[in-house]
Amino acid sequence: MELYVDSANIEHIRHAASLGIISGVTTNPSLLAKEDPSVDPKTRILEIHKLVGGHLSVEVNSTDTEGMLREADEILSWFPEATIKIPMIPAGLAAVSKLASQEIPTNVTLVFSPTQAIAAANAGATYVSVFMGRLDDISVNSVDVLDEICEIWEVQGYESLIIAASIRHPIHIVEAAKSGADIATVPYKVLIQSLSHPQTDAGLKQFLSDYEKMNVEMKKAIVI
Ligand code: E4P
Repeated sequence: MELYVDSANIEHIRHAASLGIISGVTTNPSLLAKEDPSVDPKTRILEIHKLVGGHLSVEVNSTDTEGMLREADEILSWFPEATIKIPMIPAGLAAVSKLASQEIPTNVTLVFSPTQAIAAANAGATYVSVFMGRLDDISVNSVDVLDEICEIWEVQGYESLIIAASIRHPIHIVEAAKSGADIATVPYKVLIQSLSHPQTDAGLKQFLSDYEKMNVEMKKAIVI
């Protein structure tokens, strides 16, 4: 399962990219709104694109098909490799279908059910983003929904890639991988959390303190 970082923060994206573990970035209007308002979204998106050469989803803000397609054109004029993120509404499906016919990659966002995922796949979505955290928020088990969608993908052979989104904690990453999601898009804080383990920290502390106890000759021998 690939990992994307779900962020519009340049420093977080820079650090995540430097670790060599992410292959893309997803943004949304709420993530962009959290950042410095003096930097316009186009400048920010292009800076992110420079940092991470891989996938970058940029969301449209219109709710009608024509408006979405106009925004898609605008985003693609910024950089032609953009993936256009489109909400899971009927007008969005029409936009996805039109963009798919032009071989423009799309990411259908705000997917919460198997029927929505099936519709997005049939419209020709390149990616289908299933929101885990927001399902759990309303007491719907997100793992059950993701499992069901992944099972349907197996049976039907849909080609759209499944992104586990709205990830709130490391267990969501594990569950997404077990379900068979192709990608998990993870907030920076959760990504960093997911890398640590108290036994790693304790083990490293012990190794470093034992290394310090060695005499100079022993240390030289290790380096050689
Ligand atoms: C990603 O594509 C989504 O926009 C994002 O994961 C939503 O996460 P949230 O539910 O924590 O806002």
